[in-house]
Amino acid sequence: MAITAPAFISLLICSAFSFSFGDALSLDYYEKTCPSVEDIVMNTVKEAFKEDKTVPAAVLRMHFHDCFIRGCDASVLLDKFGNSKVEKSGPPNLSLHAFFVIDNAKAAVEAACPGVVSCADILALAARDAVVLAGGPNWDVPKGRKDGRTSLASETRQLPAPTFNLSQLQQSFSQRGLDLGDLVALSGGHSLGFSHCSSFQNRLQNFDPTHDIDPSINPSFAASLKKVCPAHSQVKNAGSNLDPSPTMFDNTYYKLILQGKSLFSSDQALLTSPSTKSLVYQYSGSRKAFYEAFAKSMIKMSSITGGQEVRTHCRMVN
Ligand code: HEM
Ligand SMILES: *[C@@H]1O[C@H](CO)[C@@H](O)[C@H](O)[C@H]1NC(C)=O
Ligand SMILES: *[C@@H]1O[C@H](CO)[C@@H](O)[C@H](O)[C@H]1NC(C)=O
Repeated sequence: MAITAPAFISLLICSAFSFSFGDALSLDYYEKTCPSVEDIVMNTVKEAFKEDKTVPAAVLRMHFHDCFIRGCDASVLLDKFGNSKVEKSGPPNLSLHAFFVIDNAKAAVEAACPGVVSCADILALAARDAVVLAGGPNWDVPKGRKDGRTSLASETRQLPAPTFNLSQLQQSFSQRGLDLGDLVALSGGHSLGFSHCSSFQNRLQNFDPTHDIDPSINPSFAASLKKVCPAHSQVKNAGSNLDPSPTMFDNTYYKLILQGKSLFSSDQALLTSPSTKSLVYQYSGSRKAFYEAFAKSMIKMSSITGGQEVRTHCRMVN
C-alpha cells in the first residue's frame, strides 16, 4: 500500500479524534487578542433580532447542526466549493436560515481584530446570545474553537432524525459525549421555531401497521396538524410552530410533551424511559431547573471541537 507513515499517522489521529471534548477552550481565550468580541457578536445578533424574531431559532439550530457534524467547527456555514455538496444542501437543511447573521458578525469582528476569531466561536456566541434575546438563560461560552475545512451533505445523515425513538436518540447523543440528561435539556431548544410538515407527517397517517395516527399524539392536536399538512399537499413551506410561543424561549415545550402535543416522535420519545420522563416532569414544573440544565448542556454540546484553522470568511475555507 502506498500510504506514507505521516499520512497513516494523521489518518489514525483523524479517525480517533474526529471529535474532541473541550480540550483547548477557555473563557478568556480572546482577552488579549479581541476583548470586544462578545459585545460585537451580541450587537449583531440583536440588530438582526430587531428585524426578525425568528433569528434566535435559526441561529440556535445552526449551532446544534454544526456541533453534531465534525464537532463545532463551522462546517455548517461553508458554501459549495467545487462539485461537492455541503452540509447546507443536505436534506435536514430544512429551516436552516439566517446565515447572514453570522456573516455580519464575522465582518464586524474582522474589522476590530482581523484573523483572530474563528467562525465556530462566533456561532457558539451567537447561539447563546440568541437564547438570551429570546428570554432564555445566559451562560459563559468557552472559546478557542477552530474552523474545519470539510463540509459534506452526505454527513447530515449523522444528525438525529425526528422519527428517532429514545434508544436511537441516546446513541446519537452518546457518540458525542452527551447523555440522556443532555438529550432532555437540549431538546428544549424546540421551545423555539418552526417545522415543515415533512418532519412530522409520518405521525399523521399510515403511522405503522396497526395505527393510522401515532397513538402517542393527542388526537385533537393530530387533527389540527392534519389540516395544515394534508397528505400529498403541494403547499410549499407548510408546517407548524414547534410551540405556541415560537419566539419565546421558555419551558412550554415540556408541558406540551405531557399533553401529547409535541411535533416530533423524538420529542414524545422523552416520555418512554423513567429517567427522561422524570426530567420532562421536572422541567415542565420549573423554568429555573430547565434553564440551569439547558445552559449546562449547551456548554457541553458546544465544547465538541473539531477544526484546524481560523477562517477569514465563514463561507469559505482559507
Ligand atoms: C434531539 C434530537 C433532535 C431532532 C430529531 C431535531 C429535529 C428537528 C427538526 C426535524 C426540526 C424542523 C426542521 C424543519 O422541518 O424545518 C427542528 C427544528 C429546530 N430544532 Fe431540532 N432537533 C433535535 C435537537 C435539537 C437541539 C439539541 C436543538 C438546540 C439546542 C434544536 C433546535 C431546533 C430549533 C431552534 C428548531 C427550529 C428552527 C427554526 O425555526 O428555524 N434541535 N429540529
Ligand atoms: C436544502 O437542500 C435541498 C436539497 O436537499 C436544496 O434543494 C436546497 O437548496 C437546500 N437549501 C439550502 C438553504 O441550501
Ligand atoms: C428503536 O428503533 C430501532 C430502529 O428502528 C429499533 O431497532 C429498536 O428496537 C427501537 N427501540 C425501541 C425501544 O423501540
